[in-house]
Amino acid sequence: MASIPTILTTIFLFFLRSTISQQIHSNPDCTGRWIHIRRLPSRFNLDLLTNCSQYPLFDDFCPYLPNHGLGQKTHAKSHSWFRTDPMMLELIFHRRMLEYPCLTPDPNSANAVYLPYYTGIDALRYLYGPDVNSSAEHGLELFDFVKEQDSPNIWARHKGHDHFLVMARPAWDFSQPLINDPPIWGTSFLELPEFYNLTVLTFEARAWPWQEQAVPYPTSFHPPNLSFLESWIHRVARSRRSTLMLFAGGGGVSATPNIRRSIRDECENDTKNGTNGGYVKLCDVVDCSNGICEHDPIRYMRPMMEASFCLQPPGDTPTRRSTFDSILAGCIPVFFEDLSAKTQYTWHLPEEEYGEFSVFIPKEEVVFKGLKILDVLMGIPRDRVMKMRERVLELMPRVIYRRHGSSVDFRSNKKDAFDIAIEGTLQRIKSRLQEVAVL
Ligand SMILES: *[C@@H]1O[C@H](CO)[C@@H](O)[C@H](O)[C@H]1NC(C)=O
Ligand SMILES: *[C@@H]1O[C@H](CO)[C@@H](O)[C@H](O)[C@H]1NC(C)=O
Ligand SMILES: *[C@@H]1O[C@H](CO)[C@@H](O)[C@H](O)[C@H]1NC(C)=O
Ligand SMILES: *[C@@H]1O[C@H](CO)[C@@H](O)[C@H](O)[C@H]1NC(C)=O
Ligand SMILES: *[C@@H]1O[C@H](CO)[C@@H](O)[C@H](O)[C@H]1NC(C)=O
Ligand SMILES: *[C@@H]1O[C@H](CO)[C@@H](O)[C@H](O)[C@H]1NC(C)=O
Repeated sequence: MASIPTILTTIFLFFLRSTISQQIHSNPDCTGRWIHIRRLPSRFNLDLLTNCSQYPLFDDFCPYLPNHGLGQKTHAKSHSWFRTDPMMLELIFHRRMLEYPCLTPDPNSANAVYLPYYTGIDALRYLYGPDVNSSAEHGLELFDFVKEQDSPNIWARHKGHDHFLVMARPAWDFSQPLINDPPIWGTSFLELPEFYNLTVLTFEARAWPWQEQAVPYPTSFHPPNLSFLESWIHRVARSRRSTLMLFAGGGGVSATPNIRRSIRDECENDTKNGTNGGYVKLCDVVDCSNGICEHDPIRYMRPMMEASFCLQPPGDTPTRRSTFDSILAGCIPVFFEDLSAKTQYTWHLPEEEYGEFSVFIPKEEVVFKGLKILDVLMGIPRDRVMKMRERVLELMPRVIYRRHGSSVDFRSNKKDAFDIAIEGTLQRIKSRLQEVAVL
């Protein structure tokens, strides 16, 4: 019997061949947008999936592979909803690249070169596997291949400045200084001088600008056509918001003061007398401890659709997938530090408009100065809340990843997170090449 990864590999390879040969005609204006996909041996991508159950210290990720990385459908009849694991963005992105309308087989006429390397999945053997003590080597094999073994002039032409790849983890996981041996955490991929010129799409960039740019975490919603997207937007817009604020997540149970703990404390004490501004509940917590929500969007999507504000406190790292789930639910995100989104998703969410679609409450004010989140949110007038929600809904299509093979009307009318990531990458590479040319 063929295993899931084998079937997936077969489908993938089929698309790889058929899409590339189909591309060249059927083109919109591709000037400045040509992308060449570098042909990598399967040990850099598809082979890595065959070991999906062999990381005992990590999850068995085989269940997340179907549907080109979107995961299993939430139920048999679902067209748009999947049990998506964010780490599968490397597959999702690869599949979407294969239907990108401006692919070229000729690297010399490409404006950018995509490396279909599954960086985060290959990193598992260093993060959780037998190579834990060799994490400074992560990437060297890839570099050797793209620079030396395989037609070296593709890299040499622009010294790698035109190459890009996706890493479906925070950049932090790849930023271990080369001298740390054994590593404290993570691999040194982004610290290798070999890759300084690369453009890297990640979920969370480091605080200062390196090679990486943050792109949205995938949610569980991947509509195949425009009518599914529009009916979802209508449903979310009509949803009755009976809760003022919601926190879906874990943590905050330790005694040390932190923002998650402050949120829990406030929510336990949320009963105020009076009209509560028309809300039935002031605060709701969806307990997502131990990853129980991760592949089960039903647990949190409904509560999010019933809340006006969704709290996005930092946890182990500042960014959260939940930020994008809340935008998808039309729930206005509340941030407690700029690193959570504002300084990250500069391509996808307009930096100068954060006040129009989100609320910012500095975490220090809450944790150490007794500022009550409830008071801040109760103080926002109802008509203002409605305006913000409208803006959230306008931005929503920009942060979702539509399903591969979507209808033509969808592809030509709405830019999704993938389209915007590609636009940003092309722009970034263009200005990089100009800078390098001037030097
Ligand atoms: C998969 O795991 C086997 C055994 O654990 C190992 O020999 C092999 O190199 C692994 N393959 C990849 C692509 O990591
Ligand atoms: C990694 O190095 C540490 C410390 O030197 C050692 O205890 C551990 O066994 C090594 N792990 C592996 C998988 O080699
Ligand atoms: C990165 O770019 C710089 C400047 O163009 C160049 O000197 C360097 O050799 C490049 N690095 C690699 C690994 O190609
Ligand atoms: C969208 O897709 C669904 C399921 O494939 C189909 O039933 C529906 O007719 C499509 N709608 C449009 C407008 O294409
Ligand atoms: C809830 O409010 C009461 C009275 O204001 C206070 O004594 C108590 O510490 C609060 N509990 C929490 C968990 O904040
Ligand atoms: C709310 O009202 C009830 C009865 O009117 C009163 O007993 C209670 O102390 C009030 N609680 C607060 C927090 O004001």
